[in-house]
Amino acid sequence: MKLVIVGTGYVGLVSGLCFSELGFETICVDRDAARINELKKGVCPIFEPGVNELLEKHLNNTKLISFTTSIKEAMKNSDIVFITVGTPTRRINNEADLTSIMEVAKEIAENINSYCVVVTKSTVPPGTTNDVKNIIKSKVLSENFDVVSNPEFLKEGSAINDFMQPDRVVIGADSEKPKTIIKNLYKNLNLKENYFFLTTIESSEIIKYASNSFLATKIAFINQVSDLCEKVGANIQDVSRGMGLDKRIGAKFLEAGPGYGGSCFPKDVKAFINSAKKNDVNFSILETVDLSNEIRPKEIVEKIINLQPFDSSSTICLLGLTFKPNTNDIRDSTSIKIAKLLNEKKIKINCYDPAISKSDKLKNNQFNYFESPYEACNNVNAIIVGTEWKEFLSLDFAKIKKSINEPIIFDLRNIYNQIEIEKLGFVYYGIGK
Ligand code: UDX
Repeated sequence: MKLVIVGTGYVGLVSGLCFSELGFETICVDRDAARINELKKGVCPIFEPGVNELLEKHLNNTKLISFTTSIKEAMKNSDIVFITVGTPTRRINNEADLTSIMEVAKEIAENINSYCVVVTKSTVPPGTTNDVKNIIKSKVLSENFDVVSNPEFLKEGSAINDFMQPDRVVIGADSEKPKTIIKNLYKNLNLKENYFFLTTIESSEIIKYASNSFLATKIAFINQVSDLCEKVGANIQDVSRGMGLDKRIGAKFLEAGPGYGGSCFPKDVKAFINSAKKNDVNFSILETVDLSNEIRPKEIVEKIINLQPFDSSSTICLLGLTFKPNTNDIRDSTSIKIAKLLNEKKIKINCYDPAISKSDKLKNNQFNYFESPYEACNNVNAIIVGTEWKEFLSLDFAKIKKSINEPIIFDLRNIYNQIEIEKLGFVYYGIGK
């Protein structure tokens, strides 16, 4: 069984490496020649725990993974082709930009010689996999291919684990043969039968969008509940815990904070709203979720300024710039948004993040970067915790107190114990408490 993965972003690269780990010969394709050259040398373009080790193992030892820029070359004798290219948001109307998906589908169509299953693994609006099918159908006999929707639910920071130990594997197809072929790919995960969810193509496509949108809704909901907690003297962490004990609600994704970010939630929520609009469906709930998350960084900055009168003579230290810990991804990071908004008010920003890349620092060169949190906190007027990196839990605040101008901390991720921090002489502000 030979697999081709087109697109070496998070989903494509992690899937490719994990399929190699499951014993399949896998060829990863990307039109970005520089990226492919680096991958051929074993240099990984993404920061993701465990990925370097799998790349080293399957590139050099098992030789199960290889890389190329040519779909044609990769597809020689291939059995299954996964489309894992990006579906970014189109700025004009917030719809998912499917240009890359359709271009790849055309190229795949030109290179199918014997029976092949074409799988959409990228997050795509309902109807896309069928559009892919129609593109291929114009060039290839129906008996020579099938299309399948097999969305990926991995999270950045725990991607390999999520792939290897999924909550479910969703497979959407309109006949049994391709369903069985794709299901068999996951055989070596040794999942119980009830982990597989076989359905139609459209349902599978919607499951992915609806799952991400539902989780985003949970976060937006708890964030607004946290605003109410602040007003009435309740504690959002107790409220979340108390709610989460109800098995129907569940404890996860109820952590209040500065809003959701990253490469998926903001984009997928917008694209799902757009799919509803296109189909004349009222999705006002999700529109409100999107809006509430868009304005959240501004609300947080207003709150900070109202609590403490910072001005152009102030410097604030921002700890954590990535959209969440264990990644170097700053796409749609709320920390960056907050830093920019503070900067617009002429407040200077000192930053420390354990993973942000050099190129991202250069792109955001209006901030001062430091190699340690302690250096970043020197002589500042306050600290903001923007991302809950584990190393921030063990910071020596007694030491920081000695070098900080004003001992004020805005803990946007509620990682510290308020009483302990206050005992050290800090003024502490959390979220929703
Ligand atoms: C998400 C989905 O979880 C994953 O299933 C899908 O395949 C891709 O999108 P990811 O973008 O890696 O994964 O991040 P996730 O861990 O879901 O966090 C998204 C954002 O929500 C982050 O900004 C995070 O800080 C925020 N978040 C998460 C909260 O604010 N509160 C929470 O309780 C959980």
